[in-house]
Amino acid sequence: VKDWNGIDQIVLRNPHGASARVSLHGGQVISWRNDRGEELLFNSSKANVKAPKPMQGGIPICFPQFGSCGSLEQHGFARKKIWIVDQDPPSLPANDSKGKSFIDLLLKPSEEDLKFWPHSFELRLRVCLGMDGNLTLISRVRNIDGKPFSFSFAYHSYLSVSDISEVRIEGLETMDYFDNLCHKERFTEQGDAITFESEFDRVYLSSPNCVAVLDHERKRTYVLRKEGLPDVVVWNPWDKKSKAMADLGDDEYRQMLCVDGAVIEKPISLKPGEEWKGRLEIVVVPSSFCSEN
Ligand code: BG6
Repeated sequence: VKDWNGIDQIVLRNPHGASARVSLHGGQVISWRNDRGEELLFNSSKANVKAPKPMQGGIPICFPQFGSCGSLEQHGFARKKIWIVDQDPPSLPANDSKGKSFIDLLLKPSEEDLKFWPHSFELRLRVCLGMDGNLTLISRVRNIDGKPFSFSFAYHSYLSVSDISEVRIEGLETMDYFDNLCHKERFTEQGDAITFESEFDRVYLSSPNCVAVLDHERKRTYVLRKEGLPDVVVWNPWDKKSKAMADLGDDEYRQMLCVDGAVIEKPISLKPGEEWKGRLEIVVVPSSFCSEN
């Protein structure tokens, strides 16, 4: 399938009717539907579909920088680039491959990228759709340079919710966080589940590997399981910021919540030849379920 700009999109399907759509623009998962055809990811109705701007929604990849504190543009350049499909991907480990359809996308720096970030790397993103409709994203960053480099990373996951005031997050209680709204001051979360009543922009540090996002109205829970991704970003722009964002409808903040598996506080350092792997699995279940926390 091609998008408005003629850029390829790949659709993964499972035998029960679930699907995931991935764009070569940014290596971004732009749609994920369950077996009833319901969209599970938020997509802004005002999303700018013109490349190179990434679409506001789905799961953009933030690499090699998260946020705007650094020398690069906000969230790095990976989400603006055109990735390629690896036609001959390495085989999946047995416990990863059972019944999964998947696609491997690759990103390597262009001459232009090397001017801003002078490090040769290969970023491989594997997007897998399971028999049960689970979505798994596995990223591997390899240093193919002659010198070490470091980076931060996030799966900037826009979850679709019924109404932000009906949503709560479990699994981040008592965690330390940076509040991006107050210049990265460090705080500690209290014992209660997280709920939303105003703009929210936090990075929870060294958090548990399972976080649940409960949507009461839809009786739907997103369970995020992560490996190699110690931090969790939670973001909702609320009304004022939404109005200021050209790519987001004024009231659309109510139907979205970003919960990102990420590496932010302690960037990953890779020596020449080394590889890092970050895995995020999202499962949708009828109720809360993080048995390992
Ligand atoms: C979040 C950040 O992850 O992404 C916010 O914490 C930021 O500070 C938001 O505003 C959206 O960024 P962008 O560049 O996709 O509009």
